[in-house]
Amino acid sequence: MKIVVVGGTGQVGSKLVKTLTADGHEAVAAAPSTGVDSLTGEGLAEALAGAAAVVDVSNSPSTEDDAAMDFFRRSTTHLLEAEADARVGHHVVLSVVGTDRLAPQSGYSRAKSTQEGLVAAGPIPYTIVRATQFFEFLRTIADSATVDATVRLPAVLIRPMAAVDVARALAVATLGDPRNGILEVGGPREFLLPDLIRTALTARGDARQVIADATATYLGLAVDERTLLPGEAAVAHDVRFEDWIIETAAKG
Ligand SMILES: NC(=O)c1ccc[n+]([C@@H]2O[C@H](COP(=O)([O-])OP(=O)(O)OC[C@H]3O[C@@H](n4cnc5c(N)ncnc54)[C@H](OP(=O)(O)O)[C@@H]3O)[C@@H](O)[C@H]2O)c1
Repeated sequence: MKIVVVGGTGQVGSKLVKTLTADGHEAVAAAPSTGVDSLTGEGLAEALAGAAAVVDVSNSPSTEDDAAMDFFRRSTTHLLEAEADARVGHHVVLSVVGTDRLAPQSGYSRAKSTQEGLVAAGPIPYTIVRATQFFEFLRTIADSATVDATVRLPAVLIRPMAAVDVARALAVATLGDPRNGILEVGGPREFLLPDLIRTALTARGDARQVIADATATYLGLAVDERTLLPGEAAVAHDVRFEDWIIETAAKG
């Protein structure tokens, strides 16, 4: 089956293309670097011809509020129009667990919520996959919380997952029937955010001190103990942080 992966050259997208190809599908990586631009619509009609499903794992090049909103609104609108023309039967989009809860304070989350809303209101049967934070994203969280070599983070719960598991979750969702709803996915267990970041930094020989601080924020956002967690119905994926960190630290 032909499946177009928009953002198929990115962190999750490249893993998804690999997973689908290994399963015997014709997975097409669509991105500006492969001649497909969902923001302008360039190359979309050609890429989508004959596709049974489209998976949108693109990301805005800028996470600044207005730029992210413009990206997800225009890009999603172009995709849905092109999919209707090409009679695509399933639109899958990757979103973030907690995006609805964070939207009042986060422009990026408002942009992702808008993306979800356009998909839900659009003409194509759909599945919204909300994933928790990728293991690969933890360094960004640490960097954004660092002042003078000290990382201050709130002692909230987080259930991160490996990008390769996000790709697996998306592959399963894409090959299944459209849910016309939301599927939440996460990693195998919960951590306290400061403990997790301390373990990640230590494994890489990063000497920054990590402190649990009730007044600290997560990426500049106020969060409570459970804001970042998926609901009870979330599908738990396999890759353990403890194994992933050893493997990636060994690779440098
Ligand atoms: N980070 C997390 O912890 C997390 C958690 C849950 C969900 N997510 C979601 O995961 C998604 C993917 O994240 P990622 O880290 O895999 O992204 P990424 O590595 O930054 O990749 C972004 C992809 O989007 C493509 N792209 C950019 N502009 C485009 C355009 N105009 N038209 C078509 N494609 C375009 C890029 O193509 P080029 O290579 O050509 O630039 C690239 O393939 C995001 O939507 C994010 O919200 C992230």
